[in-house]
Amino acid sequence: MKSINLSPIRVGLLGMGTVGTGTFNVLQRNQEEIRRRAGRGIEITMVADLDVARARAAVGDGVEVVADARKVVASPDIDIVVELIGGYGIAKALVLEAIEAGKHVVTANKALLAVHGTEIFAAAHRKGVMVAFEAAVAGGIPIIKALREGLTANSIQWIAGIINGTTNFILSEMRDKGLDFDVALKEAQRLGYAEADPSFDIEGVDAGHKVTLMSAIAFGIPVQFDKAYVEGITNLAAQDIRYAEQLGYRIKLLGITKRVAKGIELRVHPSLVPAKRLIANVEGAMNAVVVQGDAVGTTLYYGKGAGSEPTASAVIADLVDIARLHTADPGHRVPHLAFQPDAMSDLSVLLMSEVVTSYYLRLKVADEAGVLAKVTGILASLGISIDAVLQREADEVGGEGATQTDLIILTHDCLEARMNEALAEIQALPTVLAPITRIRKEELA
Ligand code: NDP
Ligand code: HSE
Repeated sequence: MKSINLSPIRVGLLGMGTVGTGTFNVLQRNQEEIRRRAGRGIEITMVADLDVARARAAVGDGVEVVADARKVVASPDIDIVVELIGGYGIAKALVLEAIEAGKHVVTANKALLAVHGTEIFAAAHRKGVMVAFEAAVAGGIPIIKALREGLTANSIQWIAGIINGTTNFILSEMRDKGLDFDVALKEAQRLGYAEADPSFDIEGVDAGHKVTLMSAIAFGIPVQFDKAYVEGITNLAAQDIRYAEQLGYRIKLLGITKRVAKGIELRVHPSLVPAKRLIANVEGAMNAVVVQGDAVGTTLYYGKGAGSEPTASAVIADLVDIARLHTADPGHRVPHLAFQPDAMSDLSVLLMSEVVTSYYLRLKVADEAGVLAKVTGILASLGISIDAVLQREADEVGGEGATQTDLIILTHDCLEARMNEALAEIQALPTVLAPITRIRKEELA
């Protein structure tokens, strides 16, 4: 049978912004090769955007352009709805309505899936339709496919990733060019990397959404963003980036999920990573994800995590998958979260206080005898072992005659709850002169 003689599958695209425009353009440009891979054409026949004139200018004639996205969802001529509006509001309603109407859905909306995924996947399962979301995690890197299919033989042990291009871009610009935080953020927005609300990027929320999705797929647990620990980069100081370098580390915003004896760790925070690790050298808006599986060992996935065409690459990969699989019995398709819906695990997500990790501490202290002994004494009394200490000369930090200095301590692994106790005690010392900076450290060995 010549499958490429099948009629094209018809796609309705909601939201002609950065990703929507990229999706339309790449599909047009590579339509012949894509058709040969998919076995049939994939045609965007309807587009919805609030700005009809702008969308019309982007798609030209021959595609119906409407302002009301519900018209696309309700159209009997549409087989697949691509949701590229973003957010939890209208996007959620449209996705659920599309599923209810028996249409397959492709979305890049990690916020929606990380928060409402359980409801959306259950609705899709009931209706026998696919909800594909490769673009939702790490933009153009096919990490969902890798986790869900390529690594399916493995018991996955941990995942650590740079999964927010905006923050990695900001950290790189601050370190390499000495740019201010705000200037670097504006540039990331101009380049189309940032979320509509950039606080999602800089406060770690976007990375939290993405690591939540990866965690669900890796460990067969429900998506539960509300259980993730999320800390962004807004409190990072340029001096910590410098001290980390002197100690042989880089600071990266990492999304981490790990299987440990008590349950699953699910967390996003700035982390010191040894400068010699490949992931420590991922710069700009690039993303990278390290996956540790019991059979395969360590694997690393690297590429553009944001931007118009890199993200379109992932959206179109989902469209091709659906074009190939939509006639298959739903029971024979790859499950949304890699595990069969009736075989999910109830492993609990740990509180941050239950996590074991190592730390970088920066203390502003009075430059006088006995200060270091008091601090290390508190750490020792709580069983926290020190890996390295860096004490700056007072005049290096504050100029000639300065009476205070920076004390940097790297610790070995300890329970976060213990570290919280230690920090409360150390902070109360009269010789500790400013709030202590604590950054977690991941060796990723
Ligand atoms: P944009 O803001 O560039 O595009 C969204 C588009 O949707 C805009 O054109 C907007 O119009 C339109 N829109 C808003 N409300 C409606 C509505 N009710 N009906 C129809 N159209 C509407 O966002 P992006 O393309 O950057 O992001 C889209 C999704 O992809 C988000 O979920 C985002 O998180 C995700 N994503 C984005 C990446 C990126 O690099 N940008 C990478 C990976 C995922 P208007 O401008 O008039 O409001
Ligand atoms: N705002 C996101 C980022 C877009 O910067 O990574 C890609 O999901």
